[in-house]
Amino acid sequence: MTQCVKFEAMDKDVKQEDFQIIPPPYRIKVVELLSKEQMDIANNRERREEAIAKAGYNTFLLKEDQVYIDFLTDSGTGAMSDNQWAGMMLGDEAYAGSKNFYNLDKAVRGVYGYRYLVPTHQGRAAEHIMSELLIRPGDSVPNNMYFTTRRVHQELAGATWVDVSIDEAHDPESWHPFKGNVDLKKLQGLIKDVGRERIPYMSIESNVNMAGGQPFSMDNLSSLRQLCDEHKIPVMLDGTRLVENAYFIQRREAGYENKMVRQIVREICSYTDGITVSGKKDALVNIGGFLACNDKKLFLEAKAMVVVYEGLHTYGGLAGRDMEAMARGIYEMVQDRHVAARVNQVEYLGHLLLQAGVPIVVPVGGHAVFLDAKRFLPHIPQEHYPSQALSAALYVESGVRGMERGVVSSGRDPVTGLERKPKLELVRLAVPRRAYGCADMEFVAQAIIRLYKKRKRGCGLKMVYETERLRFFQARFKPIGGSLMER
Ligand code: F0G
Repeated sequence: MTQCVKFEAMDKDVKQEDFQIIPPPYRIKVVELLSKEQMDIANNRERREEAIAKAGYNTFLLKEDQVYIDFLTDSGTGAMSDNQWAGMMLGDEAYAGSKNFYNLDKAVRGVYGYRYLVPTHQGRAAEHIMSELLIRPGDSVPNNMYFTTRRVHQELAGATWVDVSIDEAHDPESWHPFKGNVDLKKLQGLIKDVGRERIPYMSIESNVNMAGGQPFSMDNLSSLRQLCDEHKIPVMLDGTRLVENAYFIQRREAGYENKMVRQIVREICSYTDGITVSGKKDALVNIGGFLACNDKKLFLEAKAMVVVYEGLHTYGGLAGRDMEAMARGIYEMVQDRHVAARVNQVEYLGHLLLQAGVPIVVPVGGHAVFLDAKRFLPHIPQEHYPSQALSAALYVESGVRGMERGVVSSGRDPVTGLERKPKLELVRLAVPRRAYGCADMEFVAQAIIRLYKKRKRGCGLKMVYETERLRFFQARFKPIGGSLMER
């Protein structure tokens, strides 16, 4: 296993008074005021009970006006800098050949290092194009766990998604520092079973979202690259949260302590053949994404396809101003202090919960804290959607919005139609970048700790409506017996 730098001491046994806050490298110039409606919701439990019942106990179906602190997602919800807003005013909205496209192209080549760029309106559009171009029906695509949109596009293109993540990734209590690693033996087994010609690419995600925001190590990635080279399998990265992965490498992997995040990002990309990115995370924008690669043939095909689904290849579904904001965000995202402060804020929330004995996924992830619903509500079976129930109960308790990441998100097996029962049954509290402060983390932690104290009184849910794909967005539920969580 990769040698770790002081990992145990830094993350595992830090006492509350020893936790070191890293102040962020910015000051606040503009704030977003909460509405009267939001403040009423914050102060009135009955209104929250009413709101969540109306939303079918699905936090995705709440209106923003009904939410006090919004940890639903870190996607597109971060605060842009003055520099990015200034760039928005320099949007060149020419249909073809916008200046901002060339700025974005320069940023992607300069920071990530890929030769060719195809912009898209967000990450899943890039995933769609990559899956359609590389997969033939009947293929198998190995992945280090799954992300909902990544898997659905692989399956829609006719592939079988195969998990080759290490076992520790599925264990919320394991302190493995690199739970995003690929189990090379599992991958070798797959190559042996289906043959390399049925594996169009290895799909590797940085800072694996569904595992709890967990990184892979450089050591694992370079060995993966070697194995894939031996079998001529391209390595395609989901680099949606790449800088957080790079930061964990800097902190945890021997030999990287003195490297800059920017250098580590570059090195990660150098082991891969292409990337899909949702710019709504790392790149600090409200909308945007891209596909980038080194292979000219793939680039030309992707460029031909983007005009069918997204728009001309020099805007890919984005306004010029959006491309400019993303280009500037890409330079800001790799600044060491920015990443350190961002991850530190998430760790602070995780730390407060760990100190109170609340079961969460460890190590604390880069973008979110994940409550472990199996240990939080052990009396609720997976068939009664404990994470869904817990996310709804947290909303009722506090007006804080998180998201289910368990059996509902995992959906149904496309062949058998049966529910996939993931080992991880979680509630994600994703922290938007540069948008909240320490007081918010403390408020959220206190609400969760209150809930944990009365956890035995929580009840499960039954599903009364679902969609065929990505059902977690729109599914509706009803509490099984009485109310969600007594006061
Ligand atoms: N890959 C990962 C790892 C993601 O987390 C997401 C989005 C995507 C791809 C798709 O990008 O939303 O721009 O189309 N994750 C959001 C989330 C939705 O809340 O985690 P997108």
